Amino acid sequence: MVAEASKDFVSKVERAYQGEVYGEALYLGLADVLDDPVRSEKWRALAELEVVTKARMRDLVAKLGGDTRESDVFRQKGIDHVKKYANLPWDAFMALYSKELEPVIKRYAELEQRCAPEDAAVLRFLTEHEVVTKAFCDLELAGRPDISIDPTRALIASVGAV
Ligand SMILES: [Fe+2]
Repeated sequence: MVAEASKDFVSKVERAYQGEVYGEALYLGLADVLDDPVRSEKWRALAELEVVTKARMRDLVAKLGGDTRESDVFRQKGIDHVKKYANLPWDAFMALYSKELEPVIKRYAELEQRCAPEDAAVLRFLTEHEVVTKAFCDLELAGRPDISIDPTRALIASVGAV
């Protein structure tokens, strides 16, 4: 039973890691297609956070004996979803993405609860990176595009500071 539980945990961590492969492709794609250079730059920062998170998750997957190969299927899915979001009016996009992140944040918070103490920091970061991505959407919607990307940049900067 313990082995099964641990197998399930590793596969959820692997899935979260591939989620960063997906997110990186999606966010870079959005940065490329958006007309507004300020918004593009924000999605580039969000993509940078995906890359930082992906690297931390890759180390954890490796430590758990999982598969660290980046999935082409997840990357392609990210590329395929660019149009779906980019074609929406900005506020509708922000509202949709904020809502879509809610179950993801919940799922990652549950992973944090299940992990070994030494892995808690990485999984805390995993959850937190979705929290700041959602904060970005919510601040855009709240009419604060001037500060919307600040929590994302702060989280990226915190990695160097650790
Ligand atoms: Fe992500």
